Amino acid sequence: MTHAPHPAIAAGAHPFPHLHLLGLSALKPWEMLFLLDEAEQWVEFNRRPKNLGEAKHDNRLAGLTQINAFFENSTRTLLSFEIAGKRLGADVVNLGVSGSSVKKGETLLDTALTLNAMHPDLIVIRHGSSGAVQLIAEKLDCPVLNAGDGRHEHPTQALLDALTIRRRKGRIEGLTVAICGDILHSRVARSNFQLLGSLGAKVRAVAPPTLLPTNIDALGVDCFTNMDDGLAGADVVMMLRLQTERMDGAYVPSTREYFRFYGLTEARLRHAAPDVLVMHPGPMNRGVEIDGRIADDITRSAVTEQVEMGVAVRMACLDVLTRTRRGAKDWPPLLPSRHQEGPLSLLPSRLREGPGVGEPAPSPDAIGQAR
Ligand code: CP
Repeated sequence: MTHAPHPAIAAGAHPFPHLHLLGLSALKPWEMLFLLDEAEQWVEFNRRPKNLGEAKHDNRLAGLTQINAFFENSTRTLLSFEIAGKRLGADVVNLGVSGSSVKKGETLLDTALTLNAMHPDLIVIRHGSSGAVQLIAEKLDCPVLNAGDGRHEHPTQALLDALTIRRRKGRIEGLTVAICGDILHSRVARSNFQLLGSLGAKVRAVAPPTLLPTNIDALGVDCFTNMDDGLAGADVVMMLRLQTERMDGAYVPSTREYFRFYGLTEARLRHAAPDVLVMHPGPMNRGVEIDGRIADDITRSAVTEQVEMGVAVRMACLDVLTRTRRGAKDWPPLLPSRHQEGPLSLLPSRLREGPGVGEPAPSPDAIGQAR
Protein backbone atom coordinates (compact mmCIF):
# COMPACT_ATOMS: atom_id res chain seq x y z
CA MET A 1 0.00 0.00 0.00
CA THR A 2 1.56 3.32 -1.05
CA HIS A 3 0.34 6.78 -0.21
CA ALA A 4 1.08 10.07 -1.95
CA PRO A 5 2.73 12.65 0.30
CA HIS A 6 0.25 14.82 2.16
CA PRO A 7 -0.23 18.18 0.36
CA ALA A 8 1.34 20.02 3.33
CA ILE A 9 4.51 17.95 2.95
CA ALA A 10 4.44 18.24 -0.83
CA ALA A 11 4.23 22.02 -0.34
CA GLY A 12 7.46 22.03 1.65
CA ALA A 13 6.44 21.35 5.27
CA HIS A 14 8.94 19.23 7.19
CA PRO A 15 7.50 15.68 7.27
CA PHE A 16 8.39 15.22 10.94
CA PRO A 17 10.24 18.14 12.59
CA HIS A 18 10.51 16.57 16.06
CA LEU A 19 13.49 15.26 17.95
CA HIS A 20 11.33 13.08 20.19
CA LEU A 21 8.01 11.23 20.05
CA LEU A 22 6.54 12.01 23.47
CA GLY A 23 2.87 12.25 22.59
CA LEU A 24 0.47 12.89 19.76
CA SER A 25 -0.86 16.20 21.04
CA ALA A 26 2.28 17.89 19.65
CA LEU A 27 1.83 16.48 16.14
CA LYS A 28 0.07 17.91 13.12
CA PRO A 29 -2.32 15.57 11.28
CA TRP A 30 0.05 15.20 8.32
CA GLU A 31 2.91 14.27 10.68
CA MET A 32 0.73 11.47 12.06
CA LEU A 33 -0.12 10.38 8.51
CA PHE A 34 3.55 10.51 7.57
CA LEU A 35 4.39 7.98 10.30
CA LEU A 36 1.50 5.75 9.19
CA ASP A 37 2.64 5.92 5.57
CA GLU A 38 6.22 5.13 6.59
CA ALA A 39 4.98 2.10 8.55
CA GLU A 40 3.33 0.56 5.47
CA GLN A 41 6.66 -0.50 3.95
CA TRP A 42 7.58 -2.31 7.17
CA VAL A 43 4.34 -4.28 7.22
CA GLU A 44 5.27 -5.80 3.86
CA PHE A 45 8.91 -6.22 4.91
CA ASN A 46 7.95 -8.08 8.10
CA ARG A 47 5.70 -10.44 6.14
CA ARG A 48 8.53 -11.64 3.91
CA PRO A 49 8.72 -15.42 4.12
CA LYS A 50 12.17 -16.50 5.20
CA ASN A 51 12.32 -19.35 2.67
CA LEU A 52 12.64 -16.85 -0.16
CA GLY A 53 16.08 -16.07 1.19
CA GLU A 54 15.18 -12.55 2.20
CA ALA A 55 15.97 -12.17 5.87
CA LYS A 56 13.88 -9.67 7.80
CA HIS A 57 16.89 -7.45 8.30
CA ASP A 58 17.64 -3.91 7.22
CA ASN A 59 20.86 -2.26 8.27
CA ARG A 60 19.90 1.40 8.34
CA LEU A 61 20.36 1.62 12.13
CA ALA A 62 23.63 -0.34 12.12
CA GLY A 63 26.06 1.05 14.67
CA LEU A 64 23.34 2.86 16.64
CA THR A 65 22.61 1.94 20.24
CA GLN A 66 18.95 1.73 21.27
CA ILE A 67 18.09 1.46 24.98
CA ASN A 68 14.63 0.27 25.97
CA ALA A 69 14.19 1.46 29.58
CA PHE A 70 10.94 0.06 30.96
CA PHE A 71 10.01 1.07 34.50
CA GLU A 72 6.61 -0.61 34.22
CA ASN A 73 5.64 -4.06 32.95
CA SER A 74 5.10 -4.71 29.25
CA THR A 75 4.88 -7.59 26.82
CA ARG A 76 3.80 -6.13 23.47
CA THR A 77 5.48 -2.74 23.56
CA LEU A 78 8.83 -3.89 24.92
CA LEU A 79 9.13 -6.89 22.61
CA SER A 80 8.02 -5.00 19.53
CA PHE A 81 10.46 -2.15 20.15
CA GLU A 82 13.22 -4.73 20.60
CA ILE A 83 12.27 -6.61 17.43
CA ALA A 84 11.86 -3.34 15.52
CA GLY A 85 15.31 -2.11 16.54
CA LYS A 86 16.96 -5.44 15.72
CA ARG A 87 15.27 -5.70 12.32
CA LEU A 88 16.69 -2.27 11.50
CA GLY A 89 20.17 -3.35 12.59
CA ALA A 90 20.49 -1.38 15.85
CA ASP A 91 22.34 -2.65 18.90
CA VAL A 92 19.39 -3.01 21.29
CA VAL A 93 19.69 -3.29 25.05
CA ASN A 94 16.81 -3.57 27.51
CA LEU A 95 16.67 -2.18 31.04
CA GLY A 96 13.81 -3.41 33.20
CA VAL A 97 13.05 -1.85 36.55
CA SER A 98 13.35 -5.18 38.39
CA GLY A 99 16.93 -5.57 37.19
CA SER A 100 18.05 -1.95 37.56
CA SER A 101 19.62 0.05 40.38
CA VAL A 102 16.31 1.92 40.72
CA LYS A 103 15.55 -0.96 43.09
CA LYS A 104 18.52 0.14 45.22
CA GLY A 105 17.19 3.66 45.68
CA GLU A 106 18.65 5.45 42.67
CA THR A 107 16.39 8.25 41.46
CA LEU A 108 14.92 8.10 38.01
CA LEU A 109 16.79 11.21 36.91
CA ASP A 110 20.10 9.74 38.08
CA THR A 111 19.27 6.60 36.14
CA ALA A 112 18.54 8.75 33.09
CA LEU A 113 21.83 10.61 33.40
CA THR A 114 23.61 7.27 33.73
CA LEU A 115 22.04 6.00 30.51
CA ASN A 116 22.90 9.27 28.78
CA ALA A 117 26.58 8.93 29.75
CA MET A 118 26.72 5.70 27.72
CA HIS A 119 26.00 7.72 24.54
CA PRO A 120 22.89 5.92 23.30
CA ASP A 121 21.46 7.03 19.98
CA LEU A 122 17.85 6.42 20.95
CA ILE A 123 16.00 5.71 24.20
CA VAL A 124 12.55 4.16 24.50
CA ILE A 125 10.97 4.74 27.91
CA ARG A 126 7.92 3.43 29.70
CA HIS A 127 7.08 4.83 33.12
CA GLY A 128 4.12 4.68 35.50
CA SER A 129 4.01 8.46 36.10
CA SER A 130 2.36 10.84 33.65
CA GLY A 131 4.94 13.31 32.35
CA ALA A 132 7.95 11.28 33.50
CA VAL A 133 9.12 10.50 29.97
CA GLN A 134 9.14 14.16 29.00
CA LEU A 135 11.09 15.15 32.08
CA ILE A 136 13.66 12.46 31.36
CA ALA A 137 13.84 13.50 27.70
CA GLU A 138 14.87 16.99 28.76
CA LYS A 139 18.00 15.50 30.35
CA LEU A 140 19.00 13.35 27.41
CA ASP A 141 21.02 14.09 24.29
CA CYS A 142 19.27 11.65 21.97
CA PRO A 143 15.76 11.07 20.60
CA VAL A 144 13.31 9.67 23.15
CA LEU A 145 10.21 7.60 22.38
CA ASN A 146 7.40 7.46 24.89
CA ALA A 147 6.34 3.81 25.31
CA GLY A 148 3.56 4.80 27.71
CA ASP A 149 3.66 7.20 30.67
CA GLY A 150 1.06 6.80 33.40
CA ARG A 151 -2.36 7.90 32.22
CA HIS A 152 -0.94 10.46 29.85
CA GLU A 153 -0.02 9.11 26.38
CA HIS A 154 0.95 5.93 24.52
CA PRO A 155 1.65 7.38 21.06
CA THR A 156 2.91 4.28 19.26
CA GLN A 157 -0.13 2.31 20.46
CA ALA A 158 -2.49 4.86 18.92
CA LEU A 159 -0.44 4.88 15.72
CA LEU A 160 -0.61 1.09 15.43
CA ASP A 161 -4.34 1.22 16.14
CA ALA A 162 -4.81 3.80 13.39
CA LEU A 163 -2.71 1.76 10.96
CA THR A 164 -4.82 -1.32 11.72
CA ILE A 165 -8.05 0.61 11.15
CA ARG A 166 -6.81 2.23 7.94
CA ARG A 167 -5.70 -1.10 6.48
CA ARG A 168 -8.92 -2.91 7.45
CA LYS A 169 -11.38 -0.14 6.59
CA GLY A 170 -9.44 1.70 3.89
CA ARG A 171 -9.84 5.04 5.69
CA ILE A 172 -10.12 6.69 9.08
CA GLU A 173 -12.00 9.86 8.20
CA GLY A 174 -15.73 9.59 8.79
CA LEU A 175 -15.60 6.32 10.73
CA THR A 176 -17.37 6.08 14.09
CA VAL A 177 -14.98 4.64 16.66
CA ALA A 178 -16.32 3.66 20.10
CA ILE A 179 -13.59 3.45 22.76
CA CYS A 180 -15.10 1.56 25.65
CA GLY A 181 -14.14 0.83 29.23
CA ASP A 182 -11.71 2.39 31.66
CA ILE A 183 -11.24 5.71 29.90
CA LEU A 184 -10.26 7.45 33.14
CA HIS A 185 -6.98 5.59 33.59
CA SER A 186 -6.17 4.97 29.93
CA ARG A 187 -3.23 6.52 28.10
CA VAL A 188 -4.32 4.47 25.07
CA ALA A 189 -7.68 6.25 25.03
CA ARG A 190 -6.00 9.62 25.43
CA SER A 191 -3.64 9.09 22.50
CA ASN A 192 -6.40 7.65 20.34
CA PHE A 193 -8.67 10.62 21.05
CA GLN A 194 -5.87 12.84 19.76
CA LEU A 195 -4.99 10.79 16.72
CA LEU A 196 -8.33 9.50 15.48
CA GLY A 197 -9.99 12.85 16.15
CA SER A 198 -7.26 14.68 14.23
CA LEU A 199 -7.66 12.32 11.29
CA GLY A 200 -11.41 12.90 11.04
CA ALA A 201 -12.98 9.96 12.88
CA LYS A 202 -16.06 10.47 15.05
CA VAL A 203 -14.79 9.25 18.39
CA ARG A 204 -16.98 8.08 21.27
CA ALA A 205 -16.03 7.45 24.89
CA VAL A 206 -18.21 4.72 26.41
CA ALA A 207 -17.84 3.97 30.12
CA PRO A 208 -19.55 3.94 33.49
CA PRO A 209 -19.69 7.44 35.01
CA THR A 210 -17.00 6.45 37.53
CA LEU A 211 -14.54 5.65 34.73
CA LEU A 212 -14.99 8.84 32.72
CA PRO A 213 -12.82 11.92 33.37
CA THR A 214 -14.81 14.78 34.84
CA ASN A 215 -13.90 17.04 31.93
CA ILE A 216 -14.67 14.48 29.22
CA ASP A 217 -16.80 17.10 27.44
CA ALA A 218 -13.64 19.08 26.71
CA LEU A 219 -11.93 16.14 25.00
CA GLY A 220 -13.78 16.51 21.72
CA VAL A 221 -15.46 13.09 21.90
CA ASP A 222 -19.09 12.03 22.26
CA CYS A 223 -19.73 10.53 25.65
CA PHE A 224 -21.98 7.56 26.53
CA THR A 225 -22.62 5.80 29.82
CA ASN A 226 -24.92 3.17 28.26
CA MET A 227 -22.96 0.56 26.33
CA ASP A 228 -25.71 -0.28 23.82
CA ASP A 229 -26.17 3.39 22.96
CA GLY A 230 -22.41 3.88 22.67
CA LEU A 231 -22.05 0.95 20.28
CA ALA A 232 -24.99 1.90 18.03
CA GLY A 233 -23.76 1.96 14.43
CA ALA A 234 -20.07 1.98 15.41
CA ASP A 235 -17.62 0.98 12.66
CA VAL A 236 -14.87 0.21 15.17
CA VAL A 237 -15.17 -0.88 18.79
CA MET A 238 -12.01 -0.56 20.86
CA MET A 239 -12.22 -2.24 24.26
CA LEU A 240 -10.04 -1.22 27.20
CA ARG A 241 -8.94 -3.18 30.24
CA LEU A 242 -9.84 -2.14 33.78
CA GLN A 243 -6.50 -0.70 34.85
CA THR A 244 -6.58 -1.71 38.47
CA GLU A 245 -2.89 -0.89 38.94
CA ARG A 246 -3.75 2.78 38.47
CA MET A 247 -6.90 2.76 40.63
CA ASP A 248 -6.89 4.16 44.13
CA GLY A 249 -10.29 2.81 45.17
CA ALA A 250 -13.30 0.83 43.96
CA TYR A 251 -14.57 2.16 40.63
CA VAL A 252 -16.88 -0.78 39.80
CA PRO A 253 -18.90 -2.97 42.17
CA SER A 254 -17.29 -6.19 40.85
CA THR A 255 -15.79 -7.49 37.61
CA ARG A 256 -18.89 -9.66 37.19
CA GLU A 257 -21.20 -6.65 37.40
CA TYR A 258 -18.88 -4.73 35.10
CA PHE A 259 -19.05 -7.46 32.45
CA ARG A 260 -22.83 -7.54 32.78
CA PHE A 261 -23.20 -3.86 31.90
CA TYR A 262 -20.03 -3.01 29.97
CA GLY A 263 -18.56 -6.29 28.70
CA LEU A 264 -18.49 -6.77 24.91
CA THR A 265 -20.83 -9.67 24.20
CA GLU A 266 -22.34 -11.04 21.03
CA ALA A 267 -25.71 -9.51 21.87
CA ARG A 268 -24.20 -6.11 22.52
CA LEU A 269 -22.09 -6.14 19.39
CA ARG A 270 -25.26 -6.44 17.31
CA HIS A 271 -25.86 -2.75 18.03
CA ALA A 272 -22.71 -1.86 16.07
CA ALA A 273 -22.36 -1.74 12.27
CA PRO A 274 -22.65 -5.19 10.60
CA ASP A 275 -18.99 -5.05 9.51
CA VAL A 276 -17.72 -3.77 12.85
CA LEU A 277 -14.02 -4.14 13.62
CA VAL A 278 -13.23 -5.16 17.21
CA MET A 279 -9.95 -4.02 18.74
CA HIS A 280 -8.13 -4.26 22.06
CA PRO A 281 -4.66 -2.91 22.85
CA GLY A 282 -3.99 -5.74 25.29
CA PRO A 283 -3.42 -7.16 27.75
CA MET A 284 -6.99 -8.51 27.61
CA ASN A 285 -9.06 -9.70 30.53
CA ARG A 286 -11.47 -12.17 28.99
CA GLY A 287 -14.83 -12.26 30.70
CA VAL A 288 -14.24 -8.83 32.25
CA GLU A 289 -14.31 -6.33 29.37
CA ILE A 290 -14.68 -8.75 26.43
CA ASP A 291 -16.14 -12.16 25.71
CA GLY A 292 -13.20 -14.36 24.65
CA ARG A 293 -15.15 -15.73 21.67
CA ILE A 294 -15.38 -12.26 20.16
CA ALA A 295 -11.69 -11.61 20.76
CA ASP A 296 -10.82 -14.86 18.97
CA ASP A 297 -13.12 -14.34 15.97
CA ILE A 298 -10.62 -13.21 13.34
CA THR A 299 -13.38 -12.15 10.95
CA ARG A 300 -14.17 -9.32 13.34
CA SER A 301 -11.30 -9.05 15.80
CA ALA A 302 -8.04 -7.31 14.87
CA VAL A 303 -6.27 -8.02 18.17
CA THR A 304 -3.35 -10.00 16.75
CA GLU A 305 -3.16 -7.73 13.71
CA GLN A 306 -2.71 -4.80 16.10
CA VAL A 307 0.34 -6.55 17.53
CA GLU A 308 1.70 -7.08 14.01
CA MET A 309 1.16 -3.41 13.14
CA GLY A 310 2.98 -2.51 16.35
CA VAL A 311 6.29 -3.81 15.01
CA ALA A 312 5.86 -1.91 11.72
CA VAL A 313 4.89 1.35 13.42
CA ARG A 314 7.82 1.13 15.81
CA MET A 315 10.22 0.43 12.95
CA ALA A 316 8.91 3.56 11.23
CA CYS A 317 9.33 5.65 14.39
CA LEU A 318 12.86 4.39 15.06
CA ASP A 319 13.84 5.07 11.45
CA VAL A 320 12.30 8.56 11.30
CA LEU A 321 13.63 9.72 14.67
CA THR A 322 17.20 8.71 13.82
CA ARG A 323 17.31 10.25 10.33
CA THR A 324 18.91 13.50 11.49
CA ARG A 325 21.49 11.64 13.56
CA ARG A 326 22.27 9.33 10.65
CA GLY A 327 22.49 12.20 8.17
CA ALA A 328 19.83 10.50 6.07
CA LYS A 329 19.73 11.64 2.45
CA ASP A 330 17.09 14.27 1.60
CA TRP A 331 15.99 14.60 5.24
CA PRO A 332 15.49 18.30 6.07
CA PRO A 333 17.37 19.70 9.09
CA LEU A 334 15.58 19.99 12.42
CA LEU A 335 15.24 23.22 14.35
CA PRO A 336 18.17 23.68 16.76
CA SER A 337 16.04 23.43 19.95
CA ARG A 338 16.30 20.02 21.54
CA HIS A 339 13.18 20.55 23.69
CA GLN A 340 10.69 21.04 20.91
CA GLU A 341 7.74 19.36 22.52
CA GLY A 342 7.45 21.93 25.32
CA PRO A 343 6.90 21.10 28.96
CA LEU A 344 3.91 19.02 29.95
CA SER A 345 2.40 22.12 31.57
CA LEU A 346 2.06 23.59 28.08
CA LEU A 347 -0.08 20.72 26.85
CA PRO A 348 -3.62 21.81 25.99
CA SER A 349 -5.56 22.20 29.21
CA ARG A 350 -7.99 19.52 28.03
CA LEU A 351 -5.17 17.07 28.48
CA ARG A 352 -4.12 18.31 31.88
CA GLU A 353 -7.17 19.04 33.92
CA GLY A 354 -9.35 16.77 35.92
CA PRO A 355 -8.67 13.43 37.47
CA GLY A 356 -7.23 10.92 35.07
CA VAL A 357 -6.73 13.33 32.21
CA GLY A 358 -3.00 13.93 32.03
CA GLU A 359 -2.07 14.33 35.66
CA PRO A 360 -0.34 17.58 36.69
CA ALA A 361 3.25 17.80 35.59
CA PRO A 362 5.30 16.03 38.23
CA SER A 363 8.21 18.01 39.62
CA PRO A 364 11.71 16.66 39.08
CA ASP A 365 11.77 15.75 42.79
CA ALA A 366 8.58 13.78 42.45
CA ILE A 367 9.99 12.01 39.42
CA GLY A 368 13.20 11.42 41.29
CA GLN A 369 11.21 9.62 43.94
CA ALA A 370 9.23 7.59 41.43
CA ARG A 371 11.01 4.30 41.34
N1 CP B 1 -0.75 -2.41 24.70
C1 CP B 1 0.32 -2.39 25.51
O1 CP B 1 0.92 -1.35 25.81
O2 CP B 1 0.67 -3.63 25.96
P1 CP B 1 1.92 -3.94 26.91
O3 CP B 1 1.61 -3.33 28.25
O4 CP B 1 2.02 -5.45 26.97
O5 CP B 1 3.14 -3.31 26.31
